[in-house]
Amino acid sequence: MTDLVTDLDRLKRDAARSAVGAVESGMVLGLGTGSTILHFLDALAERLHEGEIADVTGVPTSVRTADRCAELGIPLTTLSQCPTLDLAVDGADEVDPELRLIKGLGGALLREKMVAQAARRFIVIADDSKRVRRLGTRSPLPIEVVAFEWRSHLPFLEALGGRAVLRGGSSPYHTDNGNLVLDCSFEGGIESPDSLDRALLDRAGIVEHGLFLGLATEARLAGEDGIITLARDSQ
Ligand code: A5P
Repeated sequence: MTDLVTDLDRLKRDAARSAVGAVESGMVLGLGTGSTILHFLDALAERLHEGEIADVTGVPTSVRTADRCAELGIPLTTLSQCPTLDLAVDGADEVDPELRLIKGLGGALLREKMVAQAARRFIVIADDSKRVRRLGTRSPLPIEVVAFEWRSHLPFLEALGGRAVLRGGSSPYHTDNGNLVLDCSFEGGIESPDSLDRALLDRAGIVEHGLFLGLATEARLAGEDGIITLARDSQ
């Protein structure tokens, strides 16, 4: 078990190190959330401190990421100050062949999506266990909802083919925005990500969901045989 964890962590670090090469001086970056991004932040801080790049600022997608940036001395800004980002880098829970993603197991999906939509280029970094043929086969779909009457969404989600559970159960998990998360499983995966996306966003009380469609421009997936790059142009 420990070896498996260590191996996965090494692959996450490899993916992170490959993406940090895309950062250039003067860039404003979107900085994702999660264990893979922690490696990216370490590698970014290293390049900054060694003087390889300069004048780089980042927009963090979570309090956790902002705190880590403060520890590493990575300068931060906000989307209000910089509404267009040169590059966003983030992890993912699933990546399909069309570069569609499931994100949000770390709970930062709303801010992650806002940052991704603001970026000219969005690189996903992950170990290659996150590759799936069909979204929803490896991970549940996280759905961020307001706390008010959250149970009323359960039959709605069931009608869409999903079985949702409240993250944290009797001690509910709260996002950085103060909302709840429903983790929604789809037996056999998600048949039509596009129509699910629209149905969820049409529903009052649902704030955001973890399907990231048409946002990633590139994925760097690290496996034992090296890094596989998927790019939007090569789809
Ligand atoms: C955070 O909300 C998520 O979207 C993460 O990006 C995703 O869960 C990947 O996390 P790891 O890098 O820890 O696997």
